[in-house]
Amino acid sequence: MKKLIIEGGVPLKGIVSASGAKNAVLPVIAAALLSNGVSYIDDTPWLADVRTMCRTLEQMGVRSDYQKGLLALDSAGLCETCAPEEFVRRMRASFLLMGPILSRMGQVKMSLPGGCAIGSRPIDLHLKGFEAMGAEIVLGNGYIDARAKRLKGARIYLDFPSVGATENIMMAASLAEGNTIIENAAEEPEIVDLAIFLGAMGAKIKGAGTKIIRIEGVTSLSPARHSVIPDRVEAGTFMMAAAATGGSVIIDNVIEEHLKSVSAKLQETGSSVTENYGSIKVTAGGHISASDVKTMPYPGFPTDMQAQIMVHLAQADGCSVITETIFENRFMHVGELRKMGADIKIEGHSAVVNGVPRLRAAKLRATDLRAGGAMIIAALAAEGVSEITHLQHLERGYENICQKLASLGASIKVVEE
Ligand code: UD1
Repeated sequence: MKKLIIEGGVPLKGIVSASGAKNAVLPVIAAALLSNGVSYIDDTPWLADVRTMCRTLEQMGVRSDYQKGLLALDSAGLCETCAPEEFVRRMRASFLLMGPILSRMGQVKMSLPGGCAIGSRPIDLHLKGFEAMGAEIVLGNGYIDARAKRLKGARIYLDFPSVGATENIMMAASLAEGNTIIENAAEEPEIVDLAIFLGAMGAKIKGAGTKIIRIEGVTSLSPARHSVIPDRVEAGTFMMAAAATGGSVIIDNVIEEHLKSVSAKLQETGSSVTENYGSIKVTAGGHISASDVKTMPYPGFPTDMQAQIMVHLAQADGCSVITETIFENRFMHVGELRKMGADIKIEGHSAVVNGVPRLRAAKLRATDLRAGGAMIIAALAAEGVSEITHLQHLERGYENICQKLASLGASIKVVEE
């Protein structure tokens, strides 16, 4: 078993660059299936989730080649409409393959998806969208089978602005007959990035990044080349690490607008945040002020940064209330932080965080991907040597995290037992 050993108490200092966004590249890879040829995706982060997606596609006849950030995907050979179960169960985002395969091949069969254990995470909104577009959906024992000769455009209202459902419906609608309108669509930057890639393939999409997206279906899409946006969650994790360790870090390769809610919270808690054309500098203040946080769909504070800001606020002067509104079971990191002396109580969907002067080192577990990011920040901020296990979660979403943190002065290494 691999584990991370971190000696905390060192303020992070220096410059680090964010990688391409995991949550942007996965839907873009899925969208490449809508064409019949080779698409190129620049700035692809070589993460476990990306490798899993590529391996899934290889079993379905889609060849992939990765070299130094450039992923080539040849979707001409797509011949299989049944996604391999072992991969789908491992990763929830594999469900993003459903829309493109259904739209291009007329049928698709998939197991129910897996991913982080952060709540029940149903897929009803995705299915509701496909059904509205005329797909016949059969739910079997642990799998879903969907068929439609050609999907038809429809008006689809999402009860919640689900990121995945918006993406899946956008992809399916791009090759459907007629016009689709998605109302109460998700507005996340990753939706806009996907729309840009689909547009380069020849799709006709208007309104991505707003609550109403209009898609005019076309009969075919061509392969295209696309650069993935920077990972705002990875960048946000470095911002939080700088603030929580009392350091000063410049994060390069960011889109500042995507991080406004994180920057605002850091400023409110006493850090200085300066933006400079594609980079953000975070310098910790003398002390950390308490602040309440509520996770919301974009442009609100991201649920994927909730665990990381909790570490920061665990060392604040005073009491903060962190409310999670997106996922029902996303406080698994609280138990780990308590091992470090954090004073946190859970009350329903909120965590009441009474700041303590300093966290202490402990043996920690990365309970999910972003909680893993939070454990790293906590270990960096704490006095003493901490260990973090269950690194497979971290490998899903943080590219070269050890090297990047070591370049900022962190004492961090991976050991194998
Ligand atoms: C995406 C991100 C994830 C992020 C989340 C919210 C990817 C690969 N993952 O996940 O990192 O935390 O957005 O910003 O992009 N829901 C339903 N029915 C559905 C779909 C969703 O009830 O059909 C619920 C979910 O259970 C959850 C909420 O809606 O409570 C948000 O989910 P959604 O926006 O779909 O997240 P994902 O696309 O899975």
